Amino acid sequence: MTLSIPRLIGHRGAARHAPENTLSGMRTGALQGALWVEVDVKITRDGVPILMHDDDVDRTSDGHGLVADMDFADIRRLDAGSWFGPDFKGEPVPTLAEAIQAATLLDINLNLEIKPCPGRDEQTAGIALSMALNLWPANRPPPLISSFSIESLAMAKVVAPHWPRGYLMDEEPADWEAIADRLGAATINVDAKKQSAESVAAFRASGRPVLAWTVNDPEQARRLFQWGVAGVFTDTPQGLYQGLTGK
Ligand code: G3P
Ligand code: CA
Repeated sequence: MTLSIPRLIGHRGAARHAPENTLSGMRTGALQGALWVEVDVKITRDGVPILMHDDDVDRTSDGHGLVADMDFADIRRLDAGSWFGPDFKGEPVPTLAEAIQAATLLDINLNLEIKPCPGRDEQTAGIALSMALNLWPANRPPPLISSFSIESLAMAKVVAPHWPRGYLMDEEPADWEAIADRLGAATINVDAKKQSAESVAAFRASGRPVLAWTVNDPEQARRLFQWGVAGVFTDTPQGLYQGLTGK
């Protein structure tokens, strides 16, 4: 399958301009011209896939506690916008289903990052991807499924074998290529600050496009593109575009 990867991917929506992992964030990313936005997926105690980055809700809402200990009804009552700014007061934590509907309406694609959930990685990926498969419009290109969790990616390969998988690497293990082969990874997703011309060349030599996070500085983006990085995750799609083009 040929993946059409845009140069600039909205990170957690457009995290500099709107609360991360919300529908406002996705809309802001799209309005800023991002063709893809990346969002983080976890599941609640009662098995509802939602958008959330952290293990707990404390940083990005007015609530407290672990997502894994909360039912969706508890999470839905939270304000996930006021912490970012008064304009976003009352913004709810979206479900994955709502995020898919929003992406379809906005005519953008999604990178769904399945977040590691202690002891529940496989379950999270299984539930989230079964739901996403049911809801994803047949006439749209598939989402990119990524994760730091090898268990989650292995489950994605079982549940949605025809959807591309992005192998997200933090520590970049010596046997990364064997793992990428085993997972059938379509892309290699890496931390931009750890990269060099050599590391990007090595990843690309495996035949996979390289995506790098999180890049808000045009000089850094330019360098990464020169090294052959296919696309970067940015908190500010429009700002990075303007920095790169001068327009
Ligand atoms: O998917 C790229 C990037 O989002 C991974 O790191 O912590 O922002 O989810 P994080
Ligand atoms: Ca992420």
